[in-house]
Amino acid sequence: MAFLSIITAPDPRLKVKARPVTRVDDAVRTLMDDMLETMYRAIGIGLAAPQVGVGSRVIVLDNAREGEPPQPLKLANPEILWRSLELIAGNEGCLSLPEQYAEVLRPKAIRLRYLDYDNEIREMGADGLLATCLQHEIDHLDGLLFVDHLSPLKRSMILRKLAKAKRGRASAAA
Ligand code: NI
Repeated sequence: MAFLSIITAPDPRLKVKARPVTRVDDAVRTLMDDMLETMYRAIGIGLAAPQVGVGSRVIVLDNAREGEPPQPLKLANPEILWRSLELIAGNEGCLSLPEQYAEVLRPKAIRLRYLDYDNEIREMGADGLLATCLQHEIDHLDGLLFVDHLSPLKRSMILRKLAKAKRGRASAAA
């Protein structure tokens, strides 16, 4: 198992559309395992491959609450088949946008199809936090960040803060 480094915005690698995996083989399984460990270490609830610099349609999540047993999910090529008309607002954050949070309105429930860890085609339904989190991670595969759902003003405020924080880190490391 290896820890991967997480890319933070602004970065062009977060804006690229990821490619489907041909099949879930050992290489993809290793990526899923490493992403999950990386996500747990960063205390996140979801991570998409582009966030670790890999342009493949792979996401991992764990929405278990504190005290609950882990509920790891490892999905390749997730595809949303259905979205509810009902929307909910969730307060979203992202490991690629450290310390930034905003309310995002999304469909409350979804149904999706994906390839599992054993390369089997599966379908699942999700609502509430899990639906929000899945949509957030699938957005990453299409080069979208949660700030892309905000008004241009809010988005540029957050991105400016992140660019500034990044310059600060770069000069501290120099
Ligand atoms: Ni994210």
